[in-house]
Amino acid sequence: MSPALSDAEVDALGGDGWFVRDGFLGADRALAARDAARSLAAAEALRAPGLGRGADHRLDPTVRGDQTAWLRDHLADPRLAVVSARFEALRVELNAATWLGLTHFTVQLACYPGGGAGYARHLDALRGSINRVVTAIVYLNPEWLPEHGGLLRLFVTGTPEVAPLLDRLVVFRSDAVPHEVCPTFAERWALTAWFRKRDPERPAI
Ligand code: OGA
Ligand code: MN
Repeated sequence: MSPALSDAEVDALGGDGWFVRDGFLGADRALAARDAARSLAAAEALRAPGLGRGADHRLDPTVRGDQTAWLRDHLADPRLAVVSARFEALRVELNAATWLGLTHFTVQLACYPGGGAGYARHLDALRGSINRVVTAIVYLNPEWLPEHGGLLRLFVTGTPEVAPLLDRLVVFRSDAVPHEVCPTFAERWALTAWFRKRDPERPAI
């Protein structure tokens, strides 16, 4: 199991708004989660997501080419429950180290099938809502090569790019870090937690 947040990670989150760490679940757990994810895909549990909410809801594969499932529905599988438990530990660590006051989180499994699918530049915080505060992504790709593309590009100082390597964790502030997924040429798996705080103006989703 990975160590608690370091001072450098907390400073980075408060500064440019992001950090990356190699080793979040342990490679064995990350591989097991990938296997569980593949079984979900084989059982056709993944769907093309909508974008935005309400009247904004639409599907546009040129904006976003992944297929997703909420983990909530699949926590009976211990290979996925362990990931949710690790995100909960991260939530507690973030609250201990900051004043973010994160109350809960949702986890989404996402798979880009390859073939150049990506996700255009966006912010994760939903418009008009304080719901999403911190995004944490763990990648599940053991054999990722440079020619597979699929870098996560963050629009912050230096425009860093993060390759989606097995058990790599990237954490960023959902309202402050625009980002995109570059065109992907191999199957690309990730589990994303959105840490939230209660929004008195809107019901939680
Ligand atoms: C998202 C997203 C980035 C990634 O799902 O909102 O930006 O690297 N994912 O998978
Ligand atoms: Mn995003």
